[in-house]
Amino acid sequence: SNIEIFDAVDGVKVTAIVLAAGKGSRMHSDIPKQFMTLGDYPVLYYSLKAFQDSPVDDIILVTGEDYVEYCRNDIVDRYNITKVRKIVTGGAERYYSVHNGLIAADGAKYVLIHDGARPCITQKIITDSIDAVKIYSACTVGVPVKDTIKIVDEDQMGVDTPDRSRLWQVQTPQSFNRELLLTCYDGLAHDKCQVITDDTMIVERYSSVRTKVIMGAYENLKITTPEDLKIASNFLKKDVDTK
Ligand code: CTP
Ligand code: MG
Repeated sequence: SNIEIFDAVDGVKVTAIVLAAGKGSRMHSDIPKQFMTLGDYPVLYYSLKAFQDSPVDDIILVTGEDYVEYCRNDIVDRYNITKVRKIVTGGAERYYSVHNGLIAADGAKYVLIHDGARPCITQKIITDSIDAVKIYSACTVGVPVKDTIKIVDEDQMGVDTPDRSRLWQVQTPQSFNRELLLTCYDGLAHDKCQVITDDTMIVERYSSVRTKVIMGAYENLKITTPEDLKIASNFLKKDVDTK
């Protein structure tokens, strides 16, 4: 069933779902990248703190079974992130982790789904996302690509070069009317073996709602490989220096 119309009433509950259940295989580190140290804190601390200081009503933290206690004691309690209402366990793929978070976010009209591996999220990104989701029901932050993108075949021979001016790199938070996204997950459940890398893809495939893409920030990178820690550390330092 396609859901087409969502109202945009103010004063409704907004929940952040912060994802920290990945294994970080591309980082090749002993501990998952979201728990590695960046400056004086674990990577995950920064986005939790950003949502703590933002207008969101509460936070659902999704992590691996083995890290629930660590997250509660060494991040949430230690740094007094009082908006964390629940810590729930994730799944083997990102979309399973999101689904568990979505179910736990009961009572929320809107959810902001954020990668715990993106520590440089800003207050502006959060408030712009909340404003946009109330209008569009589905919204992501992203940035225009700077490089030309080439589509290649299995021999790494160029096949096509899409028009760069229409290409955006997608980031998080991705913000949705919670009911809409839950309905789309029902569609996905009946239709396995799809390659799903983010939630806007799920909304594209299982509803007629179009996703609004708003400006994020080039600083809002995802920590994926070791050099990303150096880049993020510089961005976070710069923030401190300019305050
Ligand atoms: N994530 C999650 N559950 C999963 C997979 C990913 O909660 N099963 C989270 C990660 O913790 C991260 C975000 O989704 O905050 C983005 O995923 P990605 O960068 O792909 O992280 P990993 O899957 O951990 O890394 P890799 O793909 O290199 O293994
Ligand atoms: Mg991954």
